[in-house]
Amino acid sequence: MTPTPKEVAPHTGRFLDTMAQEELAIVRRAYAKHVLANADVDDARVEAAFAAVRREHFLGAGPWPMLRWPNRYVPTPSDDPVYLYQDALVGIIPERGLNNGQPWLHAMLIAAAAPRPDEHVVHIGAGVGYYTAILAHMVGARGRVTAIEFDGGLAERLAANFAGQPNVPAFQGDGAQIEFDPADMIYVNAGATRPADIWLDRLNDGGRLILPLTSDKGFGESPENIPIQRRGAVFRIERRGNEFLTKWISAVAIFPCEGARDAASERALAAAFEKGGWERVTRLYRRGDLPDEQCWLKGPDWCLAYD
Ligand SMILES: C[S@@+](CC[C@H](N)C(=O)[O-])C[C@H]1O[C@@H](n2cnc3c(N)ncnc32)[C@H](O)[C@@H]1O
Repeated sequence: MTPTPKEVAPHTGRFLDTMAQEELAIVRRAYAKHVLANADVDDARVEAAFAAVRREHFLGAGPWPMLRWPNRYVPTPSDDPVYLYQDALVGIIPERGLNNGQPWLHAMLIAAAAPRPDEHVVHIGAGVGYYTAILAHMVGARGRVTAIEFDGGLAERLAANFAGQPNVPAFQGDGAQIEFDPADMIYVNAGATRPADIWLDRLNDGGRLILPLTSDKGFGESPENIPIQRRGAVFRIERRGNEFLTKWISAVAIFPCEGARDAASERALAAAFEKGGWERVTRLYRRGDLPDEQCWLKGPDWCLAYD
């Protein structure tokens, strides 16, 4: 009798048999369909990436802390990776409220930015790299994803998760400051109060920036127990020459971005959220001298405006 081929599960060191991997592949396909349905997105490339990438490869050994409503972590019943294929947040540093983000939100934002084969994506606030891997899957072997993470411990895990994958270099640092090559997509996964200069400077013509802006005053309806400074709005900004076409995509509650928050922009953002009208924004300008009536948000030297 031929012995069943065995595979060692990453991080746990336990054996999975071939059948378990086949079953998990099926579970992942169902998960990908649910995630895309929750995002209200019909995008075969995003769905294929969610179906292909193994979340357990990135999140370390289980059981994993799942964030349950309204705000408590519940460990998975065991370290069976099947529990990771839920459209749910998983704590990566639960004591700081830092999570592997909501799959449907990322599916929606990634679909909006539409990373294409061979492109260069910069992922800021990559955590331990699950969504970096989704992006890497979409740009393919001839594309590149530069992953940047501020937290030292997470950045170490990020680098280890992509060791031996030269097209996914990982760096520890402040993604609002650190130098990177010009990019076709910049995917920011933390709440800023303004776009960092380098994100606009290094966006290629036709490149897309996904930018979550969060104020300290809050935005829309959110559960009371989500700290108010984590709430905000995500914009898609596309460079066309020297113009930055801008579109609101979604509300968001997200961890703050170190290095991309300043008091003047925070005040302007809070006033803009108070006023409403973010869904009508069409352009970002790198100057602050537009007429007030044309602006949704007027920062010190930048603004988000209507045509
Ligand atoms: C909401 S978590 C998301 C992590 C990851 N994208 C995920 O879903 O698993 C936000 C991450 O952004 C990181 N971060 C905050 N400011 C940053 C900055 N200026 N540069 C790079 N990373 C930053 C935080 O350390 C944190 O890991």
